[in-house]
Amino acid sequence: MIGSGGREHALATALQRDPALTELHVAPGNPGIAAIAQCHEIDINKNDQILDLAERLNIDLVVVGPEAPLVNGAADVLRKAGIACFGPSQAAAQLEGSKDFAKQVMRDAGVPTAKSFTCTSREEVEKALDAFGAPYVVKHDGLAAGKGVVVTDDRDAAIEHALQSPRVVIEEFLDGPEVSLFGISDGRTVIAMQPAQDFKRAYDGDAGPNTGGMGAYSPLHWAPSDIIEETLERVLNPTVKEMAARDTPFIGLLYAGLAVTSRGTKVIEFNARFGDPETEVLLPRLKTPLATLLYKAATGGLTEDMTLDWSDDSAVTVVLASEGYPASPKVGEPIMGLDSVKSAQVFHAGTTSKDGIVHSSGGRVLAVTGMGADLTIARDAAYSAISQITLHGSHYRRDIALNAAVAEKGN
Ligand code: AMP
Ligand code: GLY
Repeated sequence: MIGSGGREHALATALQRDPALTELHVAPGNPGIAAIAQCHEIDINKNDQILDLAERLNIDLVVVGPEAPLVNGAADVLRKAGIACFGPSQAAAQLEGSKDFAKQVMRDAGVPTAKSFTCTSREEVEKALDAFGAPYVVKHDGLAAGKGVVVTDDRDAAIEHALQSPRVVIEEFLDGPEVSLFGISDGRTVIAMQPAQDFKRAYDGDAGPNTGGMGAYSPLHWAPSDIIEETLERVLNPTVKEMAARDTPFIGLLYAGLAVTSRGTKVIEFNARFGDPETEVLLPRLKTPLATLLYKAATGGLTEDMTLDWSDDSAVTVVLASEGYPASPKVGEPIMGLDSVKSAQVFHAGTTSKDGIVHSSGGRVLAVTGMGADLTIARDAAYSAISQITLHGSHYRRDIALNAAVAEKGN
């Protein structure tokens, strides 16, 4: 597997549970992953280093975690060498790599999404902003590590953000709760996972700047009861069909970021890989052996009658972030208390080992996942664990899954 975040630690944990797995190698991994797999220090943005390692270790299946190597064509290089890879080709990863490309595919496939204009001049930008009115949604076309999208009532701020990129997508504002729903695709057949919800803002009450994700939970008791079937039928299947028709089949994880609006469920964005931190709540609930499933997807072996087996338990993950995250995270601080955590699974997201002690090395440092019979019990497990961990200056949200837990109790 390729990657080093909380998503990869959760993937590694689930892959290890599959009895069919013989060996697990991760590049580059992190101290949490090193406890359950063999880690290899390579530059994952260099395809030749990935291929070299896979060939040297005689790897049967490569699972690519993050988007950068996918957009870089890592999957193409591996498949060309005859190595099975769970991850889309460079061309198919454009579903995440270019907002404009994703919009064209959705248009051609008839997938419900926000109306949009792609603009390359100030004149076009102003016209598009005025066509939709406030709140304005402006998206840079390329990969932007979470910084490419601005949603604002301030027309001048919208224009300023638009002018920072040569090509932007301006779209209508979608009102309604967001849901992440993932499809596992072999290029023709897609299997939908259960939905999860991510908390993107830095502070409690959805205040503060956008982040990579401060927490997540699953399942969503409040979501429409047919959301999985509906998303499969209206979003995942048509998109995979359209990509196959374009001769760029999508093999890998198709991440649909959805808005549940009063006018139906619509796609906000696609990603070409597992979401982070949604993966840290979904995989601990997944009972279907993951290595076998992803191998089938990588080798064209999925069938429509396949279903996934889920635990009835709820899962809640809370992200422990470095001081100053997301604007300017301070890293290199020791993390204490990891060994005393019993009530939850601690996934390492941005950590490194220094003199045998785990230190922070990224903005999002840990994802702490609690499980339980309902969201309240799962929250208690996650929060009691995170309160035992010390990292100087760190912060985390106190309200992950809180509203959903209260609503669940009320039912
Ligand atoms: P994206 O990178 O496209 O997922 O956008 C990042 C975040 O911006 C999303 O998770 C939403 O919270 C918000 N956003 C994006 N597009 C829209 C939209 N059309 N309407 C409302 N909010 C949006
Ligand atoms: N959780 C949002 C993402 O993975 O992009």
